[in-house]
Amino acid sequence: MKYRRCGRSGVLLPEISLGLWHNFGGGDDRAQNAAIIGRALELGICHFDLADNYGPPPGSAEERFGDLLQHEFACHRDEMFIATKAGHLMWQGPYGDWGSRKHLIAGLNQSLRRMKLDYVDVFYHHRPDPETPIEETVEALVQIVRSGKALYVGLSKYPPALFNRACTLLAEAHVPCLLHQFRYNLLDRACETGMLPAAKDQGAGSIVFSPLAQGMLTGKYLNTATLPIGSRAERSDSIFLDAAKVAADAERVAKLQALASEAGIPLTQLALRWLLQRNGVSSVLVGARTVAQLEDCAAASGCEPLDEALMNQINELR
Ligand SMILES: NC(=O)c1ccc[n+]([C@@H]2O[C@H](COP(=O)([O-])OP(=O)(O)OC[C@H]3O[C@@H](n4cnc5c(N)ncnc54)[C@H](OP(=O)(O)O)[C@@H]3O)[C@@H](O)[C@H]2O)c1
Repeated sequence: MKYRRCGRSGVLLPEISLGLWHNFGGGDDRAQNAAIIGRALELGICHFDLADNYGPPPGSAEERFGDLLQHEFACHRDEMFIATKAGHLMWQGPYGDWGSRKHLIAGLNQSLRRMKLDYVDVFYHHRPDPETPIEETVEALVQIVRSGKALYVGLSKYPPALFNRACTLLAEAHVPCLLHQFRYNLLDRACETGMLPAAKDQGAGSIVFSPLAQGMLTGKYLNTATLPIGSRAERSDSIFLDAAKVAADAERVAKLQALASEAGIPLTQLALRWLLQRNGVSSVLVGARTVAQLEDCAAASGCEPLDEALMNQINELR
């Protein structure tokens, strides 16, 4: 595994990080989850990305991770860089969502209890809040760092202007934004004209999620009349990818698959290596469901760069 410096900070992150949004919930297999975390550590994937609402059900990914940390990986705590977030709906009533100081601090306290941790390495505001003043959200993040419950803070899915404002306020409080987290993959390049350059300008790192478009950029949905059993699009507990979304992108995925085949590499590798070559990307956050998938993703780190002709062909497919 190769490591990259995260913006203008002291933190190095692995080129490939592991997210627990799906696949680590209450219904997932504990032994398989333990095997994935163990293999990640062996492969040098030391950054684990969680959020209060990951599961399903919400909270269960942190509970599973906390259980595994306590019983199997406690001695590795200082080798790990652990992230969590708050800002999406987590509990009922006026304080269970968005970006108030009340929500962020209560949310982090709950996350720490679920994971049986004293602190996380990075705590994110998970999404911008159109109603809470950004000053309050930033003050909550600063308070969290000062209290020792997080070492660093990050932002997720912030539009560039708000991101810039939040970064300015954080910098004034001497708690710089470590990371911006947003979606980036061969099917969704919207960040290239806003979030990606803004993070670089602010000296923050960029960690990009859904690099395989939730599995579509592995080619697993091509050439099959039905969704593969157990795949994210087929699972009923996974509501963010379905047959309609798979069908909508099938043509573009087929073209990318053809380019990958011409280049003699799997589509998964093309998708991950392309991202790792994009200027400003600090880490690529995969959501592997099995040890084999994780190993496959990890293999994208440290490869020869894709050649210019291939990069140009990919870029022409926008
Ligand atoms: N900040 C935010 O709002 C936000 C939003 C989304 C995600 N995230 C973070 O980003 C992480 C990754 O997102 P993601 O899960 O969408 O990433 P992803 O890597 O694009 O998708 C993961 C899915 O792709 C498939 N896959 C992964 N590696 C594979 C391989 N080598 N071969 C074949 N299939 C493979 C698996 O699908 P099957 O299950 O079908 O096998 C897996 O469940 C999340 O866990 C979370 O930490 C953050």
